[in-house]
Amino acid sequence: MQKLVIRGEKRLYGEIAVQGAKNSALALLAGCTLCSGEVRLTNCPALSDVFAACRILNRLGCKSRYSEHTAYVNAGSISECAVPEDMMREMRSSIVFLGAILGRKGQCELSFPGGCELGPRPIDMHLSALEQMGARITEEYGVLCCECPYGLHGAKISLGFPSVGATENIMLAAALAKGETVIYNAAREPEITDLGNFLNCCGARISGQGTSTVVISGVEKLHGCEYEVMPDRIAAATYMAAAAITGGELDLKNARAQELEAVIPVFEQMGCAVFTYDERIYINCKRPLKAVRTIRTMPYPGFPTDAQAVVMAALTKAKGTSVVVENIFCSRYRHVDELVRMGANIKAEGKVAVIEGVKRLYGARVRACDLRGGAALVLAGLGAQGETEVEKVCYIDRGYENIEKYLREAGADITRMTG
Ligand code: EPZ
Repeated sequence: MQKLVIRGEKRLYGEIAVQGAKNSALALLAGCTLCSGEVRLTNCPALSDVFAACRILNRLGCKSRYSEHTAYVNAGSISECAVPEDMMREMRSSIVFLGAILGRKGQCELSFPGGCELGPRPIDMHLSALEQMGARITEEYGVLCCECPYGLHGAKISLGFPSVGATENIMLAAALAKGETVIYNAAREPEITDLGNFLNCCGARISGQGTSTVVISGVEKLHGCEYEVMPDRIAAATYMAAAAITGGELDLKNARAQELEAVIPVFEQMGCAVFTYDERIYINCKRPLKAVRTIRTMPYPGFPTDAQAVVMAALTKAKGTSVVVENIFCSRYRHVDELVRMGANIKAEGKVAVIEGVKRLYGARVRACDLRGGAALVLAGLGAQGETEVEKVCYIDRGYENIEKYLREAGADITRMTG
């Protein structure tokens, strides 16, 4: 098992080039199964979830390989339509393969992705939408068997909640379906826009991506293309929080301020100075941090749930009382107990967490419970007196490329150890 050992209280400074977006790359990799030619995804982050998605593609009979931040996928030879359980369990987001495999092969078999560290992860909206498009779905012993002998057809689908995954699955299933599909109350996250733009680059006919109404007109075939994955807005928010908790200053390359419009004001309320230009964000946190009255996580363009844990880490040292309301997932405070072990003063109950700023955090042995919570513990270690060991780094590696390398280059004393 690997751990990160951090000696804290060192101001971060300098430039960090933000990685490609995990939550776009995974959907784009699933989208490759729809294409009959080779796809080259550039700016694709080197993450364990990306490598897991490539393994699924190879299991389906596609040819996929990864080198130098580029994923090469040729699904011309796709021969399988079942994703084995061990691969499904390895990555919760593999559910996004359902729509793509069904759209390309007319059938698909995969196990329920199951719950994960954020609590139950239902897929009722995914399944109901695919059934409206003509899929017949049965579930036996935790395995979903989906088929559409007559092919998928377009439908008008209204989502009860703007689910990111459900929106992605419908777009992927509709790209090669007969007729037009309209998604009402679609998710508006930038990753949805990236997926729609990628599919159009492969010959799909999609409009409205990034708005609440997405229209997909099915086409006969999708060809390959070369496409650059968007920058990771959550990784950018994470490094902003790292600057905040260490009282440092960072210049973030490949960081789109327009995709962080709900996040940047929070850092400004904390007393940080933020300047944005082109695709860069400069943040200077030399002043003592101030508490933020209330942060409510919401679907995009609201405050992103994925930034909740890392911003909370910074708030543990902000003078005053901050309140966080987690509206998206029902169990996304597992990092709280670990932060409290480091001297934070946080009380979480249900959706609400109340953070009383403390003067100092203290290094401790802590354990990552999920991806973003793990990142929050790293940030707390950067801002703590003494040495912190963050165990279960595997969670962090799912979504952050070489986190210790980027932080060390910005002045942190952080090393990865095995054992
Ligand atoms: C995506 O998860 C992201 N994952 C998550 O990022 C992100 O937190 C989430 O969107 C919200 O932005 C990927 O893109 C791989 P949802 P997803 O469907 O698609 C409920 C990270 O840390 N729901 O928008 O699973 C669901 O339980 C990860 O990078 C249903 O009830 O999110 C949740 O409470 C974590 N039924 C809420 O909707 C459904 O059929 C939002 O889920 C689908 C979802």
